[in-house]
Order: sequence, then C-alpha cells, then structure tokens
Amino acid sequence: MKKLIIINGPNLNLLGKREPNIYGSLSFTEFLDQIQSKYPSATIQHFQSNIEGELIDKLQEVGFSYDGIILNAAAYTHTSIGIGDAVKAIETPVVEVHISNTFGREEFRHQSYVSPNAKGIILGFGLQSYELAIQSFL
Ligand code: DQA
Repeated sequence: MKKLIIINGPNLNLLGKREPNIYGSLSFTEFLDQIQSKYPSATIQHFQSNIEGELIDKLQEVGFSYDGIILNAAAYTHTSIGIGDAVKAIETPVVEVHISNTFGREEFRHQSYVSPNAKGIILGFGLQSYELAIQSFL
C-alpha cells in the first residue's frame, strides 16, 4: 500500500467556488472521494492550509516516511523560499502540481521555488493534474 499525501496551499480550500472558469466547479472533497475510490492500492491523505509555516511543518512531518507528496503550494509556489527549502530538505519525492497552466498566466506565476527540487511537475490539466501525479507514484 503506497502512502501518498496531497498538500494544498492557500485559497485551495475554496475550490469549486473560486474563479470556476480557471479552477473548475468541483470541490476538492468531492474530487478526493472520487480519486480515493479509484486508487484503492494507495492511501491518499489530504492537507490544506492557508499558512506558509503549516505547509512547511506538514512537509517535514511526512517527508521522511511517506512514499510520495503531491504539492500544490498555490501562490506560495512563487514566493516561498521556506517551502522550496523544505522540499529540498526532505527525502520523500515531491511532485509539483498546478490546476492551471501557470506559464500561460501572469509573469509572476512563471517563477517556482518548488520546481528545482521537485521530482516532476504537472500543470494545466485542471484537477486531473493531481490524478496524473498520483499515477506517477503507482
Ligand atoms: C495554482 C496557480 C497559482 O499561481 C495560484 O496562486 C493558485 C493556484 C494552480 O493550481 O493553478 O492559487 O497553484
């Protein structure tokens, strides 16, 4: 049984309500239910926080024992050296995920502090980006 966790950063608790033209209209809980039943060979946990330090705490907590981390650090992707350092410090591979194609959006979204130390990056496929990341670990 693979132990995976999806870590979501700020404002991703609003999925389904937030800018549905960009992020879709499904809530993350609904999506997670679907995905958990689709991949019974993995335990897929979920953690979301709007607080940078809590995301770092979670990366440290799971980063030496889990098989894979799927990280959408949301806006902190583009600003947080602390999250970038945490991804570098831990042993569990991290796949960076974004719902939208950040390279087709504003210039400030083209920078990522996560990417240099990520195992891989999946972006632009809507919520399916998370599913592709899960598949990469199975
Ligand atoms: C995002 C892209 C980020 O630029 C943005 O700040 C988010 C969501 C995405 O999944 O597309 O909050 O990470």
